[in-house]
Amino acid sequence: MNNFNFKNERGFAQDLDKNDPLNHYRSKFLLPQNKNGYSCVYLCGNSLGLQPNTTKQYLEEELNDWSKYGVHGHTKAKRPWLTYHLQAREGFAELTGSKECEVIAMNTLTVNLHMLMASFYRPNKKKFKILIESTAFPSDRFAAESQLRLHGFDPKNGLIEWSPRNDELHIEDLKNILDKEGENIALILIPGIQYYSGQTLPMKELCQLAKNSGIKIGLDLAHAVGNVELELHEWEPDFAAWCTYKYLNGGPGSVGGAFIHERHHGNDGSEQLLGWWSNDLSTRFEMGTTFSPAADADLWQVSNPPVFSLTPVIASLHMFQEATFKKLRKKSIQLTSYMDFLIQDTFNGQIESITPLFNRGCQLSLVIRDSSLKGKEIFYSLTEKNVIGDWREPNVIRMAPTPLYNSYEDVFEFVERLKTSIHENL
Ligand SMILES: Cc1ncc(COP(=O)(O)O)c(C=O)c1O
Repeated sequence: MNNFNFKNERGFAQDLDKNDPLNHYRSKFLLPQNKNGYSCVYLCGNSLGLQPNTTKQYLEEELNDWSKYGVHGHTKAKRPWLTYHLQAREGFAELTGSKECEVIAMNTLTVNLHMLMASFYRPNKKKFKILIESTAFPSDRFAAESQLRLHGFDPKNGLIEWSPRNDELHIEDLKNILDKEGENIALILIPGIQYYSGQTLPMKELCQLAKNSGIKIGLDLAHAVGNVELELHEWEPDFAAWCTYKYLNGGPGSVGGAFIHERHHGNDGSEQLLGWWSNDLSTRFEMGTTFSPAADADLWQVSNPPVFSLTPVIASLHMFQEATFKKLRKKSIQLTSYMDFLIQDTFNGQIESITPLFNRGCQLSLVIRDSSLKGKEIFYSLTEKNVIGDWREPNVIRMAPTPLYNSYEDVFEFVERLKTSIHENL
């Protein structure tokens, strides 16, 4: 992927920035500063994205509408609260390659995994196992284990793990598991991008495999949404869920998103958890005792939408729509490739990315190969130098330049400071 004729020079990085058609988006974000007032090099959008300037304005609009209308804000607010979740539909649909009727803003990620497993994990005595990857994000593992227990199964034999080889998950290994165990597996719960290694999984192929094996499949898109191309409607997972505080810049703990494929719409809701907001809008406020199911993904919405934690998501989605994902992804590939090039050119194998070259989004997961160096100390030293990334046990520094607010010079500066950190720790 390094066919960009990159140069390991600050002037070259600055030229790339000058010619970047998206460079004006950086000034639309608030960059954290250190105590001396210097903006940090922020490469942590894979963990928590930055705050767009417009977030405050959107939140103030809601606060003003609340003060102006009180309860009537449900219908009179600029963005009426009664159907507030619909404000996120177009943006979510565009970023996930879904139909608008298939996506919904609700809850938070792990809660959504549970809500969706309540519908799609319907085990019986023979077919009850859940397949995850062995290095799954702990929340996904705990969610899957607790679902097994809730249905009376022991995770010790109910949970099947697909393990990476040389830091990568290989689809052939999954096929081998399915050959042996397929008929006992009820659900595959798998990420779109693996949080530790940054590997993008072959989601289309995984969905096809699951479908051919008669197994339900759900995708955790925490690290994929707003990062890589998704075509959920076409790939046909049964469900997917994501958070919005990473690449979607929705703020800490912001409302998550969910996808339920259209083929599951139109049911009576008898196989899932329900609430009054799952009821069709036309009869929701009749306050009757008969449930009338919403016809689309809204059926999975249980409560009324948490307006204030959804507002920043809406502000951010509007920015994504304006910038267009196609342009963002194009820059992202170049930005991450530049970081990869600088790491290779500067460190000559002393530090390496374990993120697969052709299957990746923004993030590179860096491992210190030089045994005389301690990764965690290098990471802390970088943090002191006002570079923000994150450390994941046991030994990875994750750095994710994002195309909306990161520059090529950020990437260059990060590698310069990494060089200094390494010299200091030798
Ligand atoms: C892959 C993955 N799954 C699940 C979660 C948990 O998200 P939440 O706390 O919003 O439920 C995260 C959080 O970072 C994550 O990265």
